[in-house]
Amino acid sequence: MKFFVDTADIDAIAELHALGMVDGVTTNPSLIKKSGRDILEVTKEICALVDGPVSAEVVALEADDMIAEGRKLAEIAENIAVKVPLTWAGLKACKTLTDEGKMVNVTLCFSANQALLAAKAGATFISPFIGRLDDLNLEGLDLIADIREIYDNFGFETQVLAASIRSANHMSECAKIGADVATAPPAVIKGMVNHVLTYKGLDQFMKDVAEAGIKIV
Ligand code: E4P
Repeated sequence: MKFFVDTADIDAIAELHALGMVDGVTTNPSLIKKSGRDILEVTKEICALVDGPVSAEVVALEADDMIAEGRKLAEIAENIAVKVPLTWAGLKACKTLTDEGKMVNVTLCFSANQALLAAKAGATFISPFIGRLDDLNLEGLDLIADIREIYDNFGFETQVLAASIRSANHMSECAKIGADVATAPPAVIKGMVNHVLTYKGLDQFMKDVAEAGIKIV
């Protein structure tokens, strides 16, 4: 499973990138707002840092306007994936931009039917939002499993990009289900390292190191 980082924070991306943890980046208007940066400038910096797909989201609601914005975003770098919402207008924009050879990430997906439409419109990525479904007491992970099954049934090449990930558990569950990609905030990716028994075991080892005076260099 590929790891995308869900942030527009350059320092956070750089830290994970140095460890080989970044296969791509996703942003959205809320993350751009949080960065306090100009969308075109910060997106350009991210694209220069990361080789993989960098999702940049349109802000228009009409198809023609989304297409114009998508073309402008795609001029930033070759690794831009234009992000469009899962509306009828977004699907029209997806089809046009895909036909022009651009990568398109269809976002705000909350049902298997929406994912089916995005695949028919040629989306490169579909972004089902797990955490926002969980917030409503629905099983976000079930949606990932449903889309995986449907895409596999018919050989759709659209990649399942699990989004709105809130926990380390979401990451391993998405990997088990077979999501192609999971995009998560830096803190969630870093949190995957934590296990209480690791720290407990290390604590005991360090006590023994001190007592025995063990030295290596
Ligand atoms: C990524 O593409 C999505 O925009 C993001 O994962 C949404 O996450 P949130 O539901 O935590 O805002």
